[in-house]
Amino acid sequence: RAEVVINGSSSPAVVDRSNESIKHNIQPASSKWRHNQTLSLRIRKQILKFLDAEKDISVLKGTLKPGDIIHYIFDRDSTMNVSQNLYELLPRTSPLKNKHFRTCAIVGNSGVLLNSGCGQEIDMHSFVIRCNLAPVQEYARDVGLKTDLVTMNPSVIQRAFEDLVNATWREKLLQRLHSLNGSILWIPAFMARGGKERVEWVNELILKHQVNVRTAYPSLRLLHAVRGYWLTNKVHIKRPTTGLLMYTLATRFCNQIYLYGFWPFPLDQNQNPVKYHYYDSLKYGYTSQASPHTMPLEFKALKNLHEQGALKLTVGRCD
Ligand code: CTP
Repeated sequence: RAEVVINGSSSPAVVDRSNESIKHNIQPASSKWRHNQTLSLRIRKQILKFLDAEKDISVLKGTLKPGDIIHYIFDRDSTMNVSQNLYELLPRTSPLKNKHFRTCAIVGNSGVLLNSGCGQEIDMHSFVIRCNLAPVQEYARDVGLKTDLVTMNPSVIQRAFEDLVNATWREKLLQRLHSLNGSILWIPAFMARGGKERVEWVNELILKHQVNVRTAYPSLRLLHAVRGYWLTNKVHIKRPTTGLLMYTLATRFCNQIYLYGFWPFPLDQNQNPVKYHYYDSLKYGYTSQASPHTMPLEFKALKNLHEQGALKLTVGRCD
Protein backbone atom coordinates (compact mmCIF):
# COMPACT_ATOMS: atom_id res chain seq x y z
CA ARG A 1 0.00 0.00 0.00
CA ALA A 2 1.40 3.39 -0.96
CA GLU A 3 1.99 5.52 2.12
CA VAL A 4 1.15 9.17 2.42
CA VAL A 5 3.47 10.89 4.84
CA ILE A 6 1.15 13.02 6.86
CA ASN A 7 2.71 13.45 10.24
CA GLY A 8 6.23 13.59 8.87
CA SER A 9 7.92 12.48 12.07
CA SER A 10 7.24 10.36 15.07
CA SER A 11 7.96 13.11 17.58
CA PRO A 12 5.06 14.28 19.72
CA ALA A 13 3.46 17.66 19.11
CA VAL A 14 5.64 19.70 21.42
CA VAL A 15 5.09 23.38 20.82
CA ASP A 16 8.31 25.28 21.21
CA ARG A 17 7.05 28.86 21.38
CA SER A 18 10.51 30.36 20.87
CA ASN A 19 10.92 29.48 17.23
CA GLU A 20 7.68 27.89 16.16
CA SER A 21 6.91 30.40 13.45
CA ILE A 22 10.30 29.68 11.88
CA LYS A 23 9.77 25.96 12.31
CA HIS A 24 6.47 26.20 10.46
CA ASN A 25 7.73 28.16 7.49
CA ILE A 26 5.80 27.08 4.47
CA GLN A 27 7.83 25.34 1.75
CA PRO A 28 7.57 25.36 -1.17
CA ALA A 29 6.73 29.02 -1.55
CA SER A 30 3.30 29.82 -2.87
CA SER A 31 4.48 30.46 -6.44
CA LYS A 32 6.32 27.12 -6.66
CA TRP A 33 3.50 24.97 -5.27
CA ARG A 34 2.05 22.39 -7.69
CA HIS A 35 -1.10 20.35 -7.22
CA ASN A 36 -0.47 16.62 -6.94
CA GLN A 37 -3.55 15.08 -8.51
CA THR A 38 -2.46 11.47 -7.98
CA LEU A 39 -1.88 12.03 -4.29
CA SER A 40 -5.19 13.88 -3.86
CA LEU A 41 -7.06 10.98 -5.42
CA ARG A 42 -5.21 8.49 -3.24
CA ILE A 43 -6.12 10.46 -0.11
CA ARG A 44 -9.76 10.64 -1.20
CA LYS A 45 -9.79 6.88 -1.59
CA GLN A 46 -8.18 6.29 1.80
CA ILE A 47 -10.60 8.62 3.55
CA LEU A 48 -13.53 6.88 1.86
CA LYS A 49 -12.56 3.76 3.80
CA PHE A 50 -13.45 5.63 6.99
CA LEU A 51 -16.27 7.97 6.00
CA ASP A 52 -18.26 9.23 3.08
CA ALA A 53 -18.71 12.99 3.16
CA GLU A 54 -21.79 12.74 0.99
CA LYS A 55 -23.52 10.71 3.70
CA ASP A 56 -21.76 11.87 6.84
CA ILE A 57 -22.20 15.56 6.20
CA SER A 58 -25.72 15.25 7.61
CA VAL A 59 -28.21 12.97 9.22
CA LEU A 60 -31.20 12.68 6.89
CA LYS A 61 -34.89 12.99 7.67
CA GLY A 62 -35.62 9.37 6.86
CA THR A 63 -33.29 8.12 9.58
CA LEU A 64 -34.71 9.94 12.63
CA LYS A 65 -38.12 10.90 13.93
CA PRO A 66 -39.25 13.40 16.57
CA GLY A 67 -38.77 12.00 20.06
CA ASP A 68 -35.86 9.74 19.13
CA ILE A 69 -33.15 9.68 21.78
CA ILE A 70 -29.56 10.48 20.82
CA HIS A 71 -26.50 9.92 23.00
CA TYR A 72 -24.00 12.76 22.66
CA ILE A 73 -20.85 11.59 20.96
CA PHE A 74 -18.47 12.94 23.58
CA ASP A 75 -20.80 12.61 26.56
CA ARG A 76 -22.26 9.18 26.06
CA ASP A 77 -24.18 9.31 29.34
CA SER A 78 -26.10 12.41 28.29
CA THR A 79 -28.92 12.25 25.83
CA MET A 80 -31.11 14.57 23.82
CA ASN A 81 -34.47 14.09 22.20
CA VAL A 82 -34.97 14.90 18.55
CA SER A 83 -37.30 17.90 18.65
CA GLN A 84 -39.99 18.64 16.10
CA ASN A 85 -37.98 21.67 14.92
CA LEU A 86 -34.78 19.68 14.47
CA TYR A 87 -36.71 17.07 12.56
CA GLU A 88 -38.22 19.74 10.30
CA LEU A 89 -34.78 21.03 9.45
CA LEU A 90 -33.11 17.71 8.66
CA PRO A 91 -32.41 17.51 4.93
CA ARG A 92 -34.21 14.88 2.87
CA THR A 93 -31.18 14.29 0.68
CA SER A 94 -27.53 15.05 1.22
CA PRO A 95 -26.67 18.68 0.41
CA LEU A 96 -23.55 17.28 -1.25
CA LYS A 97 -25.21 14.60 -3.30
CA ASN A 98 -23.32 14.17 -6.57
CA LYS A 99 -21.43 17.40 -5.98
CA HIS A 100 -17.98 17.90 -7.46
CA PHE A 101 -16.00 21.10 -7.52
CA ARG A 102 -12.80 21.99 -9.31
CA THR A 103 -11.39 24.07 -6.48
CA CYS A 104 -12.52 24.61 -2.90
CA ALA A 105 -11.41 27.12 -0.30
CA ILE A 106 -11.54 26.28 3.37
CA VAL A 107 -11.26 29.45 5.39
CA GLY A 108 -10.01 28.98 8.95
CA ASN A 109 -10.35 31.77 11.48
CA SER A 110 -6.75 32.68 12.29
CA GLY A 111 -5.75 36.34 12.51
CA VAL A 112 -3.13 35.58 9.86
CA LEU A 113 -5.86 36.55 7.37
CA LEU A 114 -5.76 40.18 8.47
CA ASN A 115 -4.05 42.34 5.81
CA SER A 116 -3.68 39.25 3.62
CA GLY A 117 -5.71 40.74 0.76
CA CYS A 118 -6.93 37.17 0.10
CA GLY A 119 -10.62 38.04 -0.27
CA GLN A 120 -10.72 38.12 -4.06
CA GLU A 121 -8.75 34.91 -4.42
CA ILE A 122 -10.95 33.10 -1.90
CA ASP A 123 -14.12 34.23 -3.67
CA MET A 124 -12.84 32.83 -6.97
CA HIS A 125 -12.98 29.21 -5.78
CA SER A 126 -15.91 27.08 -6.89
CA PHE A 127 -16.94 26.20 -3.33
CA VAL A 128 -16.08 28.20 -0.21
CA ILE A 129 -16.28 26.72 3.28
CA ARG A 130 -16.13 28.91 6.37
CA CYS A 131 -16.07 28.15 10.08
CA ASN A 132 -18.23 29.12 13.01
CA LEU A 133 -20.26 31.91 11.43
CA ALA A 134 -17.16 34.09 11.32
CA PRO A 135 -18.07 37.58 10.10
CA VAL A 136 -17.17 38.44 6.50
CA GLN A 137 -18.71 41.78 5.56
CA GLU A 138 -16.29 43.97 7.56
CA TYR A 139 -13.29 41.86 6.50
CA ALA A 140 -14.19 41.20 2.87
CA ARG A 141 -10.85 42.40 1.46
CA ASP A 142 -8.97 39.80 3.48
CA VAL A 143 -11.45 36.93 3.77
CA GLY A 144 -13.89 37.38 0.87
CA LEU A 145 -17.67 37.10 0.96
CA LYS A 146 -18.63 33.94 -0.93
CA THR A 147 -19.96 31.28 1.42
CA ASP A 148 -21.27 27.94 0.23
CA LEU A 149 -21.03 26.15 3.56
CA VAL A 150 -20.53 27.60 7.00
CA THR A 151 -20.20 25.68 10.24
CA MET A 152 -21.67 26.68 13.58
CA ASN A 153 -20.55 25.06 16.81
CA PRO A 154 -23.30 25.67 19.38
CA SER A 155 -20.71 27.54 21.51
CA VAL A 156 -20.67 30.31 18.90
CA ILE A 157 -24.09 31.41 20.11
CA GLN A 158 -22.58 32.07 23.51
CA ARG A 159 -19.28 33.51 22.33
CA ALA A 160 -20.38 35.72 19.47
CA PHE A 161 -24.06 36.33 20.16
CA GLU A 162 -24.21 36.66 23.97
CA ASP A 163 -26.50 33.64 24.25
CA LEU A 164 -29.24 35.76 22.65
CA VAL A 165 -29.89 37.49 25.98
CA ASN A 166 -31.96 40.22 24.41
CA ALA A 167 -33.70 41.28 21.19
CA THR A 168 -30.58 43.04 19.88
CA TRP A 169 -28.50 39.85 19.93
CA ARG A 170 -31.34 37.81 18.50
CA GLU A 171 -31.61 40.32 15.67
CA LYS A 172 -27.84 40.21 15.09
CA LEU A 173 -27.90 36.45 14.73
CA LEU A 174 -30.97 36.62 12.53
CA GLN A 175 -29.25 39.09 10.20
CA ARG A 176 -26.17 36.86 10.01
CA LEU A 177 -28.34 33.87 9.17
CA HIS A 178 -30.29 35.82 6.53
CA SER A 179 -26.99 36.86 4.96
CA LEU A 180 -26.17 33.20 4.31
CA ASN A 181 -28.69 33.34 1.53
CA GLY A 182 -29.17 29.72 0.55
CA SER A 183 -25.83 28.31 1.67
CA ILE A 184 -25.37 25.23 3.85
CA LEU A 185 -25.38 25.83 7.61
CA TRP A 186 -23.59 22.92 9.24
CA ILE A 187 -24.42 22.48 12.91
CA PRO A 188 -22.68 19.78 14.97
CA ALA A 189 -25.68 19.24 17.20
CA PHE A 190 -24.86 15.81 18.57
CA MET A 191 -21.25 16.25 19.68
CA ALA A 192 -21.35 17.43 23.26
CA ARG A 193 -24.07 18.19 25.79
CA GLY A 194 -24.35 21.81 26.69
CA GLY A 195 -25.17 23.00 23.20
CA LYS A 196 -28.70 21.67 23.35
CA GLU A 197 -30.61 24.92 24.00
CA ARG A 198 -28.39 26.86 21.65
CA VAL A 199 -29.10 24.52 18.76
CA GLU A 200 -32.81 24.70 19.57
CA TRP A 201 -32.77 28.52 19.60
CA VAL A 202 -31.13 28.63 16.19
CA ASN A 203 -33.50 26.03 14.74
CA GLU A 204 -36.46 27.97 16.06
CA LEU A 205 -35.19 31.24 14.62
CA ILE A 206 -34.64 29.67 11.19
CA LEU A 207 -38.13 28.21 11.07
CA LYS A 208 -39.91 31.20 12.55
CA HIS A 209 -38.30 33.67 10.14
CA GLN A 210 -38.12 31.31 7.19
CA VAL A 211 -34.40 31.90 6.88
CA ASN A 212 -33.07 30.73 3.54
CA VAL A 213 -30.35 28.27 4.62
CA ARG A 214 -29.88 24.57 4.01
CA THR A 215 -29.29 23.08 7.42
CA ALA A 216 -27.08 20.02 7.90
CA TYR A 217 -26.30 18.13 11.13
CA PRO A 218 -23.27 15.84 10.90
CA SER A 219 -23.72 12.12 11.34
CA LEU A 220 -23.10 10.45 14.67
CA ARG A 221 -20.14 8.54 13.28
CA LEU A 222 -18.32 11.43 11.60
CA LEU A 223 -16.07 12.49 14.46
CA HIS A 224 -14.79 9.03 15.24
CA ALA A 225 -14.35 8.22 11.57
CA VAL A 226 -12.29 11.35 10.98
CA ARG A 227 -10.19 10.65 14.05
CA GLY A 228 -9.74 7.07 12.88
CA TYR A 229 -8.44 8.18 9.50
CA TRP A 230 -5.88 10.55 10.99
CA LEU A 231 -4.83 8.07 13.67
CA THR A 232 -4.14 5.53 10.96
CA ASN A 233 -1.84 8.13 9.46
CA LYS A 234 -0.14 8.65 12.82
CA VAL A 235 -1.73 12.00 13.57
CA HIS A 236 -2.93 11.55 17.12
CA ILE A 237 -5.67 14.10 17.56
CA LYS A 238 -8.00 14.03 20.52
CA ARG A 239 -10.76 15.88 18.80
CA PRO A 240 -10.43 17.14 15.25
CA THR A 241 -11.00 20.87 14.90
CA THR A 242 -13.65 22.25 12.59
CA GLY A 243 -10.92 23.10 10.09
CA LEU A 244 -9.57 19.57 9.95
CA LEU A 245 -13.09 18.13 9.74
CA MET A 246 -13.80 20.38 6.78
CA TYR A 247 -10.60 19.38 4.98
CA THR A 248 -11.33 15.69 5.55
CA LEU A 249 -14.87 16.08 4.19
CA ALA A 250 -13.78 18.27 1.29
CA THR A 251 -11.42 15.62 -0.10
CA ARG A 252 -14.54 13.79 -1.26
CA PHE A 253 -16.00 16.51 -3.48
CA CYS A 254 -13.18 18.96 -4.21
CA ASN A 255 -10.44 18.30 -6.76
CA GLN A 256 -8.11 20.96 -5.41
CA ILE A 257 -8.25 22.23 -1.84
CA TYR A 258 -6.90 25.63 -0.76
CA LEU A 259 -6.62 26.51 2.92
CA TYR A 260 -6.59 30.08 4.23
CA GLY A 261 -6.61 31.28 7.83
CA PHE A 262 -4.93 28.18 9.23
CA TRP A 263 -2.16 29.41 11.52
CA PRO A 264 -2.42 28.44 15.18
CA PHE A 265 0.65 30.38 16.29
CA PRO A 266 1.03 33.78 17.93
CA LEU A 267 3.75 34.99 15.54
CA ASP A 268 3.71 34.94 11.76
CA GLN A 269 6.56 33.82 9.51
CA ASN A 270 8.18 37.25 9.89
CA GLN A 271 7.83 37.20 13.68
CA ASN A 272 4.94 39.67 13.74
CA PRO A 273 2.11 39.04 16.23
CA VAL A 274 -0.94 37.22 14.91
CA LYS A 275 -4.39 37.32 16.49
CA TYR A 276 -5.99 33.99 17.39
CA HIS A 277 -9.13 34.89 15.42
CA TYR A 278 -9.27 37.59 12.77
CA TYR A 279 -12.48 39.02 14.19
CA ASP A 280 -12.49 38.82 18.00
CA SER A 281 -10.25 39.09 21.03
CA LEU A 282 -9.85 35.44 21.98
CA LYS A 283 -6.29 34.67 23.03
CA TYR A 284 -3.88 31.85 22.23
CA GLY A 285 -4.12 29.05 24.69
CA TYR A 286 -7.86 29.34 24.47
CA THR A 287 -9.61 26.03 24.11
CA SER A 288 -13.25 25.68 24.91
CA GLN A 289 -13.97 23.02 27.49
CA ALA A 290 -15.82 21.07 24.85
CA SER A 291 -12.94 21.04 22.43
CA PRO A 292 -9.48 20.12 23.63
CA HIS A 293 -7.88 20.69 20.25
CA THR A 294 -4.33 20.09 19.18
CA MET A 295 -4.18 22.67 16.42
CA PRO A 296 -0.37 22.84 16.04
CA LEU A 297 -0.26 19.09 15.54
CA GLU A 298 -3.00 19.31 12.93
CA PHE A 299 -1.16 22.18 11.29
CA LYS A 300 1.97 20.07 11.00
CA ALA A 301 -0.01 17.36 9.22
CA LEU A 302 -1.60 19.89 6.86
CA LYS A 303 1.78 21.46 6.17
CA ASN A 304 3.14 18.08 5.16
CA LEU A 305 0.26 17.65 2.77
CA HIS A 306 0.97 21.12 1.38
CA GLU A 307 4.58 20.14 0.78
CA GLN A 308 3.44 17.08 -1.12
CA GLY A 309 0.97 19.07 -3.22
CA ALA A 310 -2.19 17.46 -1.82
CA LEU A 311 -3.52 20.82 -0.63
CA LYS A 312 -2.34 24.40 -0.68
CA LEU A 313 -1.86 26.38 2.50
CA THR A 314 -1.72 30.14 2.23
CA VAL A 315 -0.34 31.81 5.33
CA GLY A 316 0.85 35.11 3.91
CA ARG A 317 -0.44 37.73 1.50
CA CYS A 318 -2.35 36.78 -1.63
CA ASP A 319 -1.41 39.76 -3.80
N1 CTP B 1 -7.58 27.92 13.00
C1 CTP B 1 -6.20 27.95 12.89
N2 CTP B 1 -5.49 28.87 13.62
C2 CTP B 1 -6.11 29.70 14.46
C3 CTP B 1 -7.51 29.67 14.59
C4 CTP B 1 -8.23 28.75 13.84
O1 CTP B 1 -5.61 27.16 12.16
N3 CTP B 1 -5.38 30.61 15.13
C5 CTP B 1 -8.34 26.96 12.15
C6 CTP B 1 -8.65 25.64 12.86
O2 CTP B 1 -8.57 24.60 11.92
C7 CTP B 1 -10.08 25.85 13.32
C8 CTP B 1 -10.66 26.72 12.22
O3 CTP B 1 -9.58 27.57 11.80
O4 CTP B 1 -10.80 24.65 13.44
C9 CTP B 1 -11.84 27.57 12.67
O5 CTP B 1 -11.49 28.31 13.81
P1 CTP B 1 -12.35 28.25 15.16
O6 CTP B 1 -13.67 28.82 14.88
O7 CTP B 1 -11.56 28.83 16.26
O8 CTP B 1 -12.40 26.65 15.30
P2 CTP B 1 -12.95 25.47 16.18
O9 CTP B 1 -12.08 24.30 15.89
O10 CTP B 1 -14.37 25.23 15.90
O11 CTP B 1 -12.74 25.93 17.64
P3 CTP B 1 -13.67 25.83 18.91
O12 CTP B 1 -13.86 24.39 19.18
O13 CTP B 1 -12.84 26.53 19.92
O14 CTP B 1 -14.96 26.53 18.59
